[in-house]
Amino acid sequence: MSEVPPILQIQKLEVRTHARLLLRNITLSIFEGEIFGLIGPSGAGKSTLLRSLNRLNDLLPGLYVKGDVLLRGQSVYARDTDVNSIRTRIGMLFQQPVIFPTTIRENVLFGAKRVLALGKVEQTVRVESALRESSLWDEVKDRLQQPASALSVGQQQRLCLARALAVQPEVLLMDEPTSALDPRSTAAIEELLLRLKTRHTIVIVTHNITQARRVTNSLAFVAIQDGAGEILEHGATKALLSAPKNPILADYLTHSS
Ligand SMILES: Nc1ncnc2c1ncn2[C@@H]1O[C@H](COP(=O)(O)OP(=O)(O)OP(=O)(O)O)[C@@H](O)[C@H]1O
Ligand SMILES: [Mg+2]
Repeated sequence: MSEVPPILQIQKLEVRTHARLLLRNITLSIFEGEIFGLIGPSGAGKSTLLRSLNRLNDLLPGLYVKGDVLLRGQSVYARDTDVNSIRTRIGMLFQQPVIFPTTIRENVLFGAKRVLALGKVEQTVRVESALRESSLWDEVKDRLQQPASALSVGQQQRLCLARALAVQPEVLLMDEPTSALDPRSTAAIEELLLRLKTRHTIVIVTHNITQARRVTNSLAFVAIQDGAGEILEHGATKALLSAPKNPILADYLTHSS
């Protein structure tokens, strides 16, 4: 067992609507510097679980959360926790790139400007370092003032990553970040993830088992059990994929590869 405390501790998390339970008794520890994957069938609750980690579910009416998530030991759900600070520390990348109708530069600074008091020079430095970190700098350095909408989808997804990185989050949540991308852009993002994990902890939802094998250190398998999503198995990626203990996971893997 690791002696380092986990960066994220999900404790008996339960998510429900007024009509039904979506996630039951989710308990997981995620450690600093790892890429933690969530896999499982469609509708199992992977996105719901991911959004619970930085309280994005708060924005969806009619979802109720019980249990807790601890970020470096601090409760994400405590009454006096500042949600904005949590969402600054835990960034998110979605399936489709979310681009604002402005320049490349302003897209990178969109979150950073709101949460940090940056001067003009600091902004410029921040834009360059975030774009370098997301491997987009060389492609856009001469057109920072041009509209972001002119970029390809693969570039837009790296721009979204740069925007997330510009606020220097401790954890990055990614919900199927490559499912809208072609193989080349997917490979670029996967390569980036492996580089980013030296400085960030990443939690990624993926349907792609080959991708899970390539980039994640640990995995949790979420599936519906008695009408609600549960973690049926979790552990080191290699062991979980090569010797699944749970028969539902074994069946899922057989049909996914
Ligand atoms: N805001 C909401 N209100 C009511 N039900 C919801 C809400 N969000 C999600 N659900 C339900 O929760 C269940 C889990 O959905 P979720 O999107 O988390 O699954 P998923 O594992 O991410 O699926 P996929 O692999 O298709 O993305 C689904 O039955 C969905 O209909
Ligand atoms: Mg989903």
